Amino acid sequence: MRIVIGSDHAGFDLKEALLAWLHAAGHEVIDVGTDTDASCDYPVFGAAVGRAVAAGVADRGVAVCGSGLGICMAANKIPGVRAAVLRTVEDGEMSRRHNDANVACFGGRVTTVTEAERSLSAFLETGFDGGRHGRRVDLLAELDAEDRPA
Ligand code: RB5
Repeated sequence: MRIVIGSDHAGFDLKEALLAWLHAAGHEVIDVGTDTDASCDYPVFGAAVGRAVAAGVADRGVAVCGSGLGICMAANKIPGVRAAVLRTVEDGEMSRRHNDANVACFGGRVTTVTEAERSLSAFLETGFDGGRHGRRVDLLAELDAEDRPA
């Protein structure tokens, strides 16, 4: 799978660990930064991950900040992105089965590398259930289209 990954400074260490893990698992990984643990702004990197997924440059995205929350909000601002914060393996599974999530978000200050790898593995291996969940994901796409200039 082609996966785009990004983080702010607070997610940098976990981002680097997940990047190595994804490479070892045979994925193609696009790293949009940040490249150091110097203070920076999570919206920049959440948007970069989201844009790569929405444009089809990557199949899935991984975004990391301190809590996972801010960078998830940023990614979800990009139309076509369905980003979810993953704290458990169940989050990884259900975000795929019911929400067809395409960006996995993690908190480097609250989630260990091992926990993140397990949740991300579930996220990457689980399919979308479709059916009634497809109708709901279509409704999410309609929200993306609302209020956009013609
Ligand atoms: C940075 O201190 C922190 O606010 C950021 O990484 C993130 O947790 C925001 O949601």
